[in-house]
This record gives sequence, structure tokens and C-alpha cells, in this order.
Amino acid sequence: MTDQALPRHIAVIMDGNGRWAKKRFMPRTLGHREGVKATRRAVEACSKNKIEALTLFAFSSENWRRPEEEVGLLMKLFLVTLRGEVKRLHRNKVRVRFIGDKSPFNDTLREEMEAAEKRTENNSGMYLNIAVNYGGRWDIAHAAKRLCRDVETGKVNAAQVDEALFGTYVDLSDLPEPDLFIRTGGERRISNYLLWQLAYTELYFTDALWPDFDENTLDEALAFFGQRQRRFGRTGEQVG
Ligand code: IPE
Ligand code: IPE
Ligand code: MG
Repeated sequence: MTDQALPRHIAVIMDGNGRWAKKRFMPRTLGHREGVKATRRAVEACSKNKIEALTLFAFSSENWRRPEEEVGLLMKLFLVTLRGEVKRLHRNKVRVRFIGDKSPFNDTLREEMEAAEKRTENNSGMYLNIAVNYGGRWDIAHAAKRLCRDVETGKVNAAQVDEALFGTYVDLSDLPEPDLFIRTGGERRISNYLLWQLAYTELYFTDALWPDFDENTLDEALAFFGQRQRRFGRTGEQVG
């Protein structure tokens, strides 16, 4: 893509793995395996397009409600993928980070996530944030809790609390807010993703199922983004 405004930060809901498999009379788990390949393509395509940050929704705080077998497979796939991909990500200078409540995950998985973050933290390439056991409401409540602690200890004065200060407590506060949101799989909802961070994000929905995501899907989303006039409350004349 050339000659158009590019988003600095893209947030993605990778949806449609199950339906992709169902269409092929295959178990949902196969859809998730194909989804991993699509994720690799997405990271590479965003990296190639010089996107500064990519935030992927891998597992929501609501996804625990799925059948035990599927949750188990997702965890296993997550661990295997993490182990298999970190080297390549590191080679490509990607900085990996996990957001969400990691406390329910087993030690092995938590250690693996920490190791990946540590190994890649000094890289100079794209920020890759992976949301696991993440919920937008959890993020906001967690921020409120940490802020309250700072008020309790006197580090912050309640009178100082405003949007800017609160915003430093939510996840990804050190990165530009997502400019572009992409959801595959045809649903037009946010599903408790980055509620605070998406306040002014351009929303792009595509019927493409996640395992089919490729460079063309990204190009379509980037073209959509390039056509948006971002007004942030102003009139078209003011920003035009
Ligand atoms: C997204 O695909 C992957 C995860 C939520 C982990 P789904 O598994 O939600 O696929 P559909 O929506 O059932 O097709
Ligand atoms: C959102 O997808 C979460 C992830 C992609 C990880 P879901 O498929 O779980 O969303 P809902 O429940 O259909 O809204
Ligand atoms: Mg889904």
C-alpha cells in the first residue's frame, strides 16, 4: 500500500476459526490450527507495512465458557505456538507482550510468556501485543484498582484523577491508541475487547474468516482506513 495514511496501531479480533472448520466438516480444533498460520501471516504483513503496533485478541475472559476440550486445546496450541514462534519473532525484531489477567494460566505457560517478553523487550521492530484472558472491563477495573492503591499510599491525589492520568493505568498506555480495529468472521461487535483504547478507533469488519486472513485482507482494511476522515469531534471543514 502506498500514498495513503497508515495506521500506527492495529487491533484485531481474530474470529471465525470454528466456522472455517465447520464449513469443511472438520473439528473446530483444526480451524484453530489454521488460525495460527493466519496469525503468522498477519504479523508478517503488518511488519512489512511498517505498522508500529499490532494487538491480537487470542483468548477472551469469556472464552473459558467454551467446552473444556476446546479450552484445553487452545491452551496447548498457545504454548506450542509460543515455543515455536519466539525465535522467528525475535529474529524479525518484534517486541512481544501479553496483556490480560495471566493469573489463571499454569506456571509453564506463564513462564513461557515472561521469557518471550524478556527475550524480545529490547528489539526495535513492531510491538506485538497478545491479549490472553483479556477483557476490556477487566482492564478498566484493574486500572481502577491500581489507581486506588496509589491514592491509598499517597502517591496520587484523588483530585488529580482525570482521563489522562487514568489512561496511564490501562494496558498499552505506552503505545499510540489503536487507529484501526479489524474484526474478521462477520460479527459486528467489540466482544469486550479494548473498551477504553478503542474510543476513537476506525472500525473495520470483514466477513473473511480468520484462517483465510492474508495480505489482501490487510490491504482491504488499510484501504478502508485510508479513506476515513478522522475528525475527533471537529467538523469536516476544520480537518479537511
Ligand atoms: C476465534 O475463532 C478464536 C478464538 C476465540 C479463540 P472462534 O473459535 O470464535 O470461531 P467461530 O466464531 O466459532 O467461527
Ligand atoms: C472474541 O471472539 C475473542 C477472540 C477472538 C479471542 P469470540 O468468538 O469469543 O466472540 P463472541 O463471543 O462471539 O462475541
Ligand atoms: Mg467466534
